[in-house]
Amino acid sequence: MCGIFGYVGKRDNGLELVVKGLQKLEYRGYDSWGVATELSGELFIKKQVGKISEAKLEDFADKKTGLAIGHTRWATHGGVTDINAHPHFSSDKKVAVVHNGIIENYEEIREELGRGNFISDTDTEVIPQLISKYLKEMSFKEAVQKTVQRLSGRYAIVAIAVGENLLIAARRGSPLIVGVGEEEYFLASDIPAFLEYTQNVNYLDDNEMVILDGNVEFLNIDTGTAIKKRLVNIDWKAESADKGEYDHYMLKEIMEQKDSILRAINQNTDDIMHIAQMIKDSRGCFLSGCGTAGKVCMAAEYFFSIIAGRHVNYAPASEFPIFHHFLKPESLLIVVSQSGETADVLEAMEAAKGKGAKVLSIVNVESSTIARQSDFSLHIKAGPEKAVASTKAATAQMALFLLITTAMKGELQEGRRILAEVASRTNDMLNPRFLNYIKEVTQKIKGHDNLYIIGKAENYPMALEAAIKIQEVSYVHAEGFAAGELKHGPIALITEGTPCISMIANDEVKSDVINNTIELKARGAHIIGISPDKHEVFDEWIKVPDVGVASPLVNIIPVQLLAYYLGVLRGLDPDMPRNLAKSVTVK
Ligand code: G6P
Repeated sequence: MCGIFGYVGKRDNGLELVVKGLQKLEYRGYDSWGVATELSGELFIKKQVGKISEAKLEDFADKKTGLAIGHTRWATHGGVTDINAHPHFSSDKKVAVVHNGIIENYEEIREELGRGNFISDTDTEVIPQLISKYLKEMSFKEAVQKTVQRLSGRYAIVAIAVGENLLIAARRGSPLIVGVGEEEYFLASDIPAFLEYTQNVNYLDDNEMVILDGNVEFLNIDTGTAIKKRLVNIDWKAESADKGEYDHYMLKEIMEQKDSILRAINQNTDDIMHIAQMIKDSRGCFLSGCGTAGKVCMAAEYFFSIIAGRHVNYAPASEFPIFHHFLKPESLLIVVSQSGETADVLEAMEAAKGKGAKVLSIVNVESSTIARQSDFSLHIKAGPEKAVASTKAATAQMALFLLITTAMKGELQEGRRILAEVASRTNDMLNPRFLNYIKEVTQKIKGHDNLYIIGKAENYPMALEAAIKIQEVSYVHAEGFAAGELKHGPIALITEGTPCISMIANDEVKSDVINNTIELKARGAHIIGISPDKHEVFDEWIKVPDVGVASPLVNIIPVQLLAYYLGVLRGLDPDMPRNLAKSVTVK
């Protein structure tokens, strides 16, 4: 949800560098972009509607500067216009600011500063206006500090001011990381944006500011006290965050699942055993997450029940705080998040912590806000995930739940064996012939506007997840149902030729799902069966390996591919679905 990038240092192509950094953050927002620096004693700002990937580096080649900021936007307050694009600046054109998050008290500040002074519809514009007001009476550092002390809401900001050769950033609730190079510093919403220049980072925490010139100085926003930070080395390779030979990140990430599932097996045994014990010791265990991570939580509910014989409750993170009545100090909340930055998840955690409950997180970004605010955090190790539609993170998260639940049953080794088999059979499945077949199936259904998916038991959450995948990248109306619920309403939607996907495993509910599929077929549905075995009811059969209780991991992969091809065949960019963002850092 908006990407921020800042540079200060020895190079003189700061603007080009910021544009390149923003291009790596495009997945966070792609409706408009902008950059700012100081040139010949004046603020230079370029901002416009459009995708940052379409920005031309040569437009900035003659503008030499060693200090610049930039932003790629996902609109929240104010429509998608050039004026609403960031950076925003003060009326006296002395201060420019980029911002990710939402300032909740912006109306009140606008009122105080005089509504007539504002030119955009954004909440952000109050920030440079306030800084510039205070700058008349105090230093730039003090002016930024006084400004952010007045803001309520969640934010990450970076500010520059004419005549001040430094970047000042502050955060509360939205991610911001400092990349520490040799005689240069980077500021970004996510690490891959500067990974080609440095792998050394400092994490900015909530209520902290950082001042970057030739040096780096961290301080507490409220008290002004200096903070010492640990330099963290990130072991991601720059190329692992790039598209490589693939047309889209989504396809690359789908294909990487054979490795990412395997990596789950190498999780530290002590960590898995510790988590298994935390869950066993808890009185009232809850699961929460958003979007795809939420569907993973639902699949985990089944793993907890089927494998570990334990009742665990799921609620979407945006709904979770409502259940605070059931939370006690002995309760445990398990949150799942790819980015580790989702605002609704952070709110769910606050609700749990407010009741003294413990929080365990499963995240793909180590040292993310969610990880750092948890009592214990497990790193998924799926590698950077860039496509908005989550794929490899989801299967890796499910793999971890499989390990945790088998560990609770005292069968961790068996859990590892199952996952090794899933990884190897996923590797076999993802061959060019399989991909071509999915493309063929997709060709047949690409003209339909409605698509339904059914599943039962641990594959019911996968039917819901399949629907999300298809909706977000192809804009086809897709809905997932519990197979048995069909006859209670949804079956009325089926007419001649309606494509329906049936997700089946070789488990005790298989015959029920087959029967429900036959009911769909009897109403004219075109059946796409995802199953280890062929059945005469299928019009198309997508063969998946038989991996027992781990079936959600392999059953979702063909739908990820189908959603991807559906998007491509309908002329869309699956990596950048309209209205969506990879990391949703606002409520
Ligand atoms: C957004 C993304 C989804 C993702 C969800 C949760 O809505 O578009 O793909 O599943 O956020 O994100 P998280 O980073 O918390 O897993």
